[in-house]
Amino acid sequence: MKNSTSALNGEFGLIINDVSRRDLKDQDFQREAYDLWTQHGGLLAVRGDDLRDIAPEELVAWSNVFGDVEYTAQIAREDKMVKGFPILRIGNIKDGAGKPAAQLAIVPQLQNDADVRYNPETRRPVWHTDSTFRQNPPIGSVFHCKQAPTAGGETLFADTRTAYARLDAGTKAKLAHLEAVCSVAHHDKKISLYSPAYPVLTPEQRAANPPNRVPIVLEHPVSGIPALYGLNSSTCAILPKDQQISPDVLDVCDLEGVEDNSVQIWRDMLPYVTGPEFTVKWQWQPGDIVVWDNRCTIHAATGYDYEANSREMWRLTLLDRAAAVAAE
Ligand SMILES: [Fe+2]
Repeated sequence: MKNSTSALNGEFGLIINDVSRRDLKDQDFQREAYDLWTQHGGLLAVRGDDLRDIAPEELVAWSNVFGDVEYTAQIAREDKMVKGFPILRIGNIKDGAGKPAAQLAIVPQLQNDADVRYNPETRRPVWHTDSTFRQNPPIGSVFHCKQAPTAGGETLFADTRTAYARLDAGTKAKLAHLEAVCSVAHHDKKISLYSPAYPVLTPEQRAANPPNRVPIVLEHPVSGIPALYGLNSSTCAILPKDQQISPDVLDVCDLEGVEDNSVQIWRDMLPYVTGPEFTVKWQWQPGDIVVWDNRCTIHAATGYDYEANSREMWRLTLLDRAAAVAAE
């Protein structure tokens, strides 16, 4: 690769500089980029002036280097998609009629770098792995910046494989037998507690969407390296692998939006995992494309001055190729 690269935080995260759209189509470049993504803990950025003009089909092709781009449009978000493509717009932009053209979630702006670290009192930033409640959770995401605010709107990433590697042997032994119980009903109810317009599942929908269970320590299928895993707003309990969640406990989780105390084992690790030695604060520039691997990172959004700035991000979701093949 002729391009220069820069480390983001030691071994975690890498940016490839001066990248063009032609580079993204080059098969050798793609192979090297995939290897660099795996080697650097599942966080890879490409930056270059030419990428400001990337076409949706070019972004889809680049994303397919890292996983299978998911084609299902998310329900009730059709008007937030880039027309004809599996790309969700995120931000505060509006269409010609003044209607929101992107999905917007208001979150606090960082006041200083210390705010990157998870605060147990505020439970912010909302560090998580995406969609662990799904049967085959997405393996990663691609995020592309069209318009960036002058300040704020950073995306935060933490290296859960190095954080796991540096745990003491006793903690590792304790985590080895645990699974996260991830319930979409719990997720929706929890959000509705502070955002009352957020819809919750009907009893029928709840019955049709039982919790998914994922390991707390996930061995990466490509690198073989274990990483902490399974923290999402849907995570309602953390239990030994052979222990079922009792229906009474699940009712409280799903119907009241309250986490079981067992989730505390993950939350207690979060301030450590999100400290400066494991994290990257990514400040976006138009054209940037970042790919992250959900199997060995967690991430969090940060806010910006929503009145004074326009932000437009394009987001794609990556599925596991093996799971996609198995489902056919
Ligand atoms: Fe996310």
